[in-house]
Amino acid sequence: MKLNISKNTIAIRTALESDEQYRAVIPPIYLTSTFAYKEIGVEQRYDYTRSANPTRDALAEAVSVLEGGFGATVTSSGMAATTLVTSLLNPNDYVIVPHDCYGGTFRLFSQLAERGLLQVKFIDQSDINLFQQTIKQYQPKIVWVESPSNPLLRVVDIQDISKILKQSNTLLVVDNTFLTPIFQTPFKLGADIVIHSTTKYINGHSDVVGGIVVAKSETLHQTMQEWANTLGLSGSPFDSYMTLRGLRTLKLRMKAHEKTAHALARVLSEHPSVEKVYYPGLSSHPSHAIAKKQQSGFGGMLSFEIKGGLREVKKFFKRIEYFSLAESLGGVESLVCHPYTMTHAPLSSEDKKKAGISENLIRISVGIEEQEDLIKSIQVAIS
Ligand SMILES: Cc1ncc(COP(=O)(O)O)c(C=O)c1O
Repeated sequence: MKLNISKNTIAIRTALESDEQYRAVIPPIYLTSTFAYKEIGVEQRYDYTRSANPTRDALAEAVSVLEGGFGATVTSSGMAATTLVTSLLNPNDYVIVPHDCYGGTFRLFSQLAERGLLQVKFIDQSDINLFQQTIKQYQPKIVWVESPSNPLLRVVDIQDISKILKQSNTLLVVDNTFLTPIFQTPFKLGADIVIHSTTKYINGHSDVVGGIVVAKSETLHQTMQEWANTLGLSGSPFDSYMTLRGLRTLKLRMKAHEKTAHALARVLSEHPSVEKVYYPGLSSHPSHAIAKKQQSGFGGMLSFEIKGGLREVKKFFKRIEYFSLAESLGGVESLVCHPYTMTHAPLSSEDKKKAGISENLIRISVGIEEQEDLIKSIQVAIS
């Protein structure tokens, strides 16, 4: 009998005891670029690591099962995952991307469009009338969704978007980096492809840069596999091993990140030196209702605007302890960043203004240190 097991059990147990030679419980790492042929003319699953590798396959299987996809392609970074999806676009094909997406995603789509390799429109996807009008006008090949968005944690209704797209051949791609399959499963909401920067929560220990593309259908999965090999975007066996190790504690970590993020968001929202807090778990957040409906958790990321200007922002970064001033997110350690000059530097000041990213915005990736220590540290840094 096949039990209907939980995500936590899947994340922990995928690929365990797959070593037939020594019956190692934890699957070994296959650090090899090439595999010996048994004989010529007979196909085998593994011949060269750019095409396929058993360690990478183990990670792909685990994430694909967690997301509920047909199959997954592990890439060398989150941006490699995004690049892989662009292989579906021809020069005249449109992609509709959120105006407040991750800065690297913005840069990739803008620069490919500048070179005439694809067409792109950046829009506020939460404006459903504008969204409908854009779909009608451009008939895009792909709609790219990042929900919650980075760094303002805006949430869009993925199911509503997918319903609008059902009348067309448009593919819905969701960047699920911020929530992971523990808190959001976009395939259930109508997505065709889910991507992750596994650098973040999936690996969770800030020691690997990686990505993954999960496809809902066999055809899309085959296309992704072929292009990953052709473009040379595949992830390394060592990184795959590390990421699979991180994945085994994903649920525990996500719960801990969320608990402390929620507590910090409450503390910040009551602080007199704070202008505004962006956390979808707060009932004051504009997307709270949608987040509550489509997510099973609010995640570990939050942003806030400090009162005053750049002087106060600099003072905060000078005083903060136990939060490293660094880009990236999703690790066990807490990080703070200044999106205006760091993660979102690729956007022009006009585009940053359009996306609502101000100079006094601070983003926090809440780690899993003791909640009290983090709260105390923030209180001291703002006061
Ligand atoms: C939401 C999101 N998508 C994609 C990426 C790109 O991932 P990577 O840095 O692994 O290339 C990032 C990186 O910060 C991100 O935040």
